[in-house]
Amino acid sequence: MNRAVAIDAVIPPADIVKRAGRIGAEIRNIKLSGALPDQTIAAINTLLISHKVIFFRDQGHLDDVEHERFAHRFGKLVPHPTLGAIKGTTSIIELDSTRAASRADLWHSDGTFLDAYPKIAVLRGVVMPSFGGDTIWSNTAAAYLDMPPPLRRLADELWAVHTNAFDYAVMARASQEDKKHFDEVFTRTIYETEHPVVRVHPETGERTLVLGDVVKRFVGIPKYDGQKLFDLFQSHITAPENTVRWSWKEGDVAMWDNRATQHFAVNDYNGQHRVVRRAAIEGEVPVSIDGRPSVTRTKVTKQLLAADA
Ligand SMILES: [Fe+2]
Repeated sequence: MNRAVAIDAVIPPADIVKRAGRIGAEIRNIKLSGALPDQTIAAINTLLISHKVIFFRDQGHLDDVEHERFAHRFGKLVPHPTLGAIKGTTSIIELDSTRAASRADLWHSDGTFLDAYPKIAVLRGVVMPSFGGDTIWSNTAAAYLDMPPPLRRLADELWAVHTNAFDYAVMARASQEDKKHFDEVFTRTIYETEHPVVRVHPETGERTLVLGDVVKRFVGIPKYDGQKLFDLFQSHITAPENTVRWSWKEGDVAMWDNRATQHFAVNDYNGQHRVVRRAAIEGEVPVSIDGRPSVTRTKVTKQLLAADA
């Protein structure tokens, strides 16, 4: 039985609704839970790999425990290295707009300041504003293929340093409180990891761009040239035709292949309340097209820095 036939038997084609040309599909008539049959989980994984981000409406029955049970079917759950996990969970972080540093309005893949950053994220809309607060995802494999061959060859050779202590100024509307949380919690341990700019997807063999606003510099390229290269590559990632935009309702779940996408949470809901919760699944260490793995060069806690001072 081929793969398409196998999926059709579990999730009918009529229940798979593309939401943009190159990325994103809504999957209908599934009630997510940790108890779904193996073949349904396998079909969801295949749809995820194919569409890069998949959406499920009406999953309000999920609580944190069931959210994680579902996510766990796709691999090992991993906590955030500096934020940890909320009480009673292994990996869930909460972004609550009434608290500091909860608005991820920068282009990124989750956790790329680590070598083995998460392969999949499962995000649940808990409280949603009456307008705004959409999330945009981009397809980093399509972005790579959009580039002319000489630019692809340049990207193939480059490596970039990603850090959680990135330039916080990329987030336009960060408050003093956000900055304090960023300095004292989010970057209490500073990581710097070298990734190939082009990684080979471990499940599809696709080449995907590994960049985003947490990139500090390119290896062996001065800052001035590096910024131009970054802007050039990143502009292919954020090109509108490579993106899909999701307008959340409470109870929605979005699940993305973090190895082949970037995302951006639009900060346009003013003072309204917005809460999302995210589970993360352990990823593989990326590998360049010539087979070299990513490597974490720096891991320094600020207490140590303070003690040394
Ligand atoms: Fe994120």
